[in-house]
Amino acid sequence: MESTQSIDSRFSSCQEQLSSRGQAHVLRFWDGLTIDEKASLLGELEAVPWDVLDDLILTHIVNQPVVAAPGDLEPAKVFPCHPPEERKAEYERAIEVGEQKLRAGQVAAMTVAGGQGSRLGFDGPKGMLPVTPVGSYTLFELFAQMVAAAQQKYETSIPWCVMTSEANHAQTLAYFESKNWFGLSPDDVYMFSQQMLPAFDLAGKLIMSSRSGLALAPNGHGGSIKALVDSGTLAKLKARSVTVISYFQVDNPLVKPFEPLGIGLHVSTGSEMAIKVIPKADDLERVGNVCSEQGRVRVVEYSDFPEALAKSRDANGKRRFDSGNAAIHFFDVDFVERVAGRSFQMPYRRAVKAVSYVNESGEVIVPSEPNAVKLETFVFDVLPLANNPLVLEIDRGEEFSPVKNASGSDSLDTAHRDLIARSYRWLTAAGVSLPRSADKKPGAEVVIMPSFALDASDVSRGTSEVPAIGAGEQVLLQ
Ligand code: UTP
Repeated sequence: MESTQSIDSRFSSCQEQLSSRGQAHVLRFWDGLTIDEKASLLGELEAVPWDVLDDLILTHIVNQPVVAAPGDLEPAKVFPCHPPEERKAEYERAIEVGEQKLRAGQVAAMTVAGGQGSRLGFDGPKGMLPVTPVGSYTLFELFAQMVAAAQQKYETSIPWCVMTSEANHAQTLAYFESKNWFGLSPDDVYMFSQQMLPAFDLAGKLIMSSRSGLALAPNGHGGSIKALVDSGTLAKLKARSVTVISYFQVDNPLVKPFEPLGIGLHVSTGSEMAIKVIPKADDLERVGNVCSEQGRVRVVEYSDFPEALAKSRDANGKRRFDSGNAAIHFFDVDFVERVAGRSFQMPYRRAVKAVSYVNESGEVIVPSEPNAVKLETFVFDVLPLANNPLVLEIDRGEEFSPVKNASGSDSLDTAHRDLIARSYRWLTAAGVSLPRSADKKPGAEVVIMPSFALDASDVSRGTSEVPAIGAGEQVLLQ
């Protein structure tokens, strides 16, 4: 245990630092804390990056950040999902390049899973959410199966990076251990945590979550760039000759991290960072708009995107800005290293959320209204730094159905529907007949697991194993 003398001297310098910033209220309960609680509070306070926060308190917390109006935006140049006749050969070559990369073990998967999933309200890390409508496999189980199936298909080992945060690391690690790493080699799974930042009240004061602890929140998925480097994970990937990181969010059960076309196009076009886009469902859909500004590709959040542009049409009457960010990327390892190594500071975004706090009497208050500001960086903000960024359109129903909300759009219900619809499409294309309702909707709950097929093209190999499926049945193909 640390000596009282050393705690006292750390306390003095913290107190000085906090008083000069008008933040000494966080030491209010000091005298009643145990020595362990004191040490833990000091650890949190010493880790606060005041060099960054001093300015942000003024620009992003006490005041709303001034978002520069986007400059001359043009639609980004997009590689279509389905190539026209004259580009078919180019796409076929890209698939071969992607397959070679995978076979050579040069592709790693990466899941960002450090978020707090507050909209969903699931009790636990979001990756532990049972997501398949049949079998109740969790998101992490699904992704682990994708890694295992790709390892088998391409006869190689594939590392899987999982970014957590202090808010869920211990629980996530315990879950992976309890599942025996889902049958993967623990040497292939790299779990690391991102940085946390304090939350502030709307007057710019630090919030405490307990008498001895600050309210901390993960610093946004943009934190993944630095965390990859700081955790030593990037160095480990380099030592394994990995050159491409296939990045996705923990909430998308339809993701295809190992589809060779995207990997192949990313590599053969010399792209340093790729972004997959979905055609927007409507002009004002709440997705980021992937645009080009002075020749640089960037994502403009829907909230910052001028409505006139969102509604604009081209000469053929088609939506001009139709590329929505699907939050799926390929990163070159060298690009991550370059961006993390330079002084470039990713812009901070202000998120106003409800955060529990202790009041002056030490009672924990759970607010019903947003009372706090969290500061986050977003990974797509490094896109303008990438050379030759690839923008690849995908079919939404094939690769994108995030679970964000407890009900309604982007919920477990829509993910279930989309998993079944995709399984139906793949099986039907392979010639399997399936029950349907009068209005042609799936008449059974059929789910293809990655161990059965990673993509539609894998299905034909297994059709002999598909049982006859009757209306209303639940079938899991694995
Ligand atoms: P979201 O923006 O959906 O945030 O994250 P969230 O925290 O999961 O959910 P809400 O907004 O509180 O409801 C998109 C992805 O980025 C990851 C999430 O885990 C998810 O995969 N993420 C988000 C991080 O890894 N770290 C963060 O700090 C924030």
